[in-house]
Amino acid sequence: MSRSSSVKILFVCLGNICRSPTAEAVFAHQASQQGVRERLWLDSAGTYGGHQGHAPDQRAQTVAQQRGITQMGKLKARRIKAEDFEQFDLILAMDLANLEDLRTQCPASQQHKLQLFLSVLPGLNDYEVPDPYYGPVSGFEHVFDLCQQASDAWLESLKGRNFMLNRPPL
Ligand code: 4NP
Repeated sequence: MSRSSSVKILFVCLGNICRSPTAEAVFAHQASQQGVRERLWLDSAGTYGGHQGHAPDQRAQTVAQQRGITQMGKLKARRIKAEDFEQFDLILAMDLANLEDLRTQCPASQQHKLQLFLSVLPGLNDYEVPDPYYGPVSGFEHVFDLCQQASDAWLESLKGRNFMLNRPPL
C-alpha cells in the first residue's frame, strides 16, 4: 500500500534513540503479526537533534532482540520537522515534555494529531513512557513492555473505527 493511502503514525521522544524507535519497531512488529503492517506508514523522530543519524541505543536494541525484534538497528534518529505535522495522521509523544514541545511547534490546524502514546491505555496512574537513557537496562525492558501494551491497544482502536474518512478501516 502506498504512503498516501496508509494510516501514517509518527512516534516522538526526546532523542529518538530509546523510546520512540522502540515504539516504532514494536508497533511495526505487532502490526505484522496481525496482518495489517502494509496499511500503516510508521516513523519516529526526536524533539532534540543531538543524536541525528545514530542507530537506536544499544540497550534498546538488545532488549528488542531478546523479545524477537531484530531489525531495530536499521533505524536512524532524526529531529521532528515542520512537514511532519502535515504528513502524519497521528503524532504520539512519549512523555508530557515531548507533547509540550510538539504543541509549541505544531500549527493550530494540526494540533488534534498530537497525543500521548499511552493515552490509549485505560486506568494508568502515569501516562508517560519514562526516559530510560540514564538508568539501568530494566528501564529499557519497562519501555518495551509499555510499547507492546500501547501498540496492541492502538491497533485495536484503529481497527475498531473508520480511522480516516477517505480510507477503509484497518
Ligand atoms: P529518548 O532517550 O528520548 O527515549 O531517545 C534519550 C536519549 C538521549 C538523551 C536523553 C534521552 N540525551 O540526553 O542525550
